[in-house]
Amino acid sequence: MKKLLFVSLLFALAAAFTLTALSATPTKVGPEKCKMCHKLQYDSWAASKHAQQNPQVDCETCHGPGSDYKTFSTMKDIAKAKAAGLILPTKEFCSKCHGKGKVPPMTDELFAKVHAHKAN
Ligand code: HEC
Ligand code: HEC
Ligand code: HEC
Repeated sequence: MKKLLFVSLLFALAAAFTLTALSATPTKVGPEKCKMCHKLQYDSWAASKHAQQNPQVDCETCHGPGSDYKTFSTMKDIAKAKAAGLILPTKEFCSKCHGKGKVPPMTDELFAKVHAHKAN
């Protein structure tokens, strides 16, 4: 009986560790980290007006903070990456800024240009 209790305690501990590995609030790692694997997207972003803003509208402003999804083993499995915080933003998200002040309203055309390498 004692042994069983000990074993289940071990399981509870292991479960707690697994939970803390996927932190409750992922943090930003910065665009240089994403560049290692996404050079094409990085280069087109770096040349965009988003990169010139202060603060920058960077990868993680749109795709969510990457501390939990940035590893290869998580990233290569999109469902897993999404569970770890990866976001594929929609036009509604863009409209938080677009259509306000001097920022042009969001259209399908503008949306398609979010990564300039796809513009043509
Ligand atoms: C260790 C390499 C690696 C790093 C670092 C990395 N990624 Fe990825 N990412 C991948 C791989 C592999 C895929 C899946 C295959 C693909 O679409 O290229 C992927 C897919 C994606 C996708 C496409 C999802 C889809 O299916 O449309 C987005 C968006 C993305 N990553 C954003 C980021 C962002 C933002 C960062 C930085 C916070 C980042 N990645 C860091 C390797 C990486
Ligand atoms: C945090 C605010 C913010 C968010 C969110 C945002 N944008 Fe922008 N975007 C800007 C600003 C500011 C500009 C620059 C406007 C200008 O000076 O002409 C801009 C410019 C652009 C441009 C022109 C790029 C260039 O270099 O000329 C495109 C395309 C664009 N945004 C697409 C998007 C899309 C698509 C989304 C959503 C996936 C989005 N934006 C989300 C603030 C934002
Ligand atoms: C303004 C918001 C915004 C920013 C900033 C942004 N992305 Fe994206 N990203 C998107 C959207 C929206 C899509 C989906 C485009 C589509 O559906 O065609 C996308 C798609 C992707 C993809 C899938 C493959 C592709 O080319 O479509 C990858 C990988 C990616 N982004 C990585 C990055 C990285 C790395 C950065 C920073 C260097 C970054 N993104 C910056 C909004 C953004």
